[in-house]
Amino acid sequence: MDPDNITPEENTTAADQPEAPATRYYGKAVALVAAAGAGHRLGADKPKAFVELGEHTILQHCLLNIAASGVFEEIVVMASFEMCSLAIDQSTALELDIPVKVYPGGVLRSDSVFEGIKRIMANDENDPVSIIAVHDAARCLTPPKLFADVVEKTRLLMTVNNPGAVIPALPVTDTIKMVDSVGNVIGTPDRSRLRAIQTPQAFDAKLLSKIHEQAAAEDINTTDDAALFERFGITVMTVEGDRRAFKITNPEDLALANIYMNQDEND
Ligand code: C5P
Repeated sequence: MDPDNITPEENTTAADQPEAPATRYYGKAVALVAAAGAGHRLGADKPKAFVELGEHTILQHCLLNIAASGVFEEIVVMASFEMCSLAIDQSTALELDIPVKVYPGGVLRSDSVFEGIKRIMANDENDPVSIIAVHDAARCLTPPKLFADVVEKTRLLMTVNNPGAVIPALPVTDTIKMVDSVGNVIGTPDRSRLRAIQTPQAFDAKLLSKIHEQAAAEDINTTDDAALFERFGITVMTVEGDRRAFKITNPEDLALANIYMNQDEND
């Protein structure tokens, strides 16, 4: 992809985007949950999203927190093909007050997200979508407020005709170094300017859809979706992240998740 061939202006006012960003403000907000990973590093006997954490599975915690934020009209879950029916059962059991749709994801996280975006935008003409917030199921203890923060700030960007992305960020405590391919240090970025990035990441939906289409066409794979916006020089704003939005990856992360859950119960 050649970022020089596309400008923020082209993205927001091109002929294939009939509405100005500020009017797109009125469409619905959809949470897109990436839950199709195998989670091998967790060492469980099932895909990570279906591992139990207290009374619920990781996927169910995630859905409960998203619904509790009160900012979404719909949740779309991407699960691996063989787990789709269990994902439907587990979401139905929660009796949430917003619809949850489940679709099969892809080989990479970026494939799952792109597939989800296509599903969400399929009926955009009749039922406009304004914002898509992409979230890792593995960050299942993300507090509802963080979802509300990123969605509200994304709408705010739209009202000033500056559509973009809003992502949670936390300062890093370690010194981070850049190394070459054999592990020799080649630089030490100023720590005060470094941030650890989490999800949910909220986006202007039409812009996200267009950018993912281009990335797929050019076989570009990034570890988060905001990186695609950055390539095009489109606004990516940060809000303060939350330690509870950490990603469950290794077995010891389950112990940390239990500590956070107990803390919340005692608050
Ligand atoms: O592997 P990692 O933990 O970085 O994955 C982040 C999130 O992306 C997880 O919630 C995982 O379920 C999801 N994922 C996905 N489709 C894949 C791979 C990962 O939805 N093919």
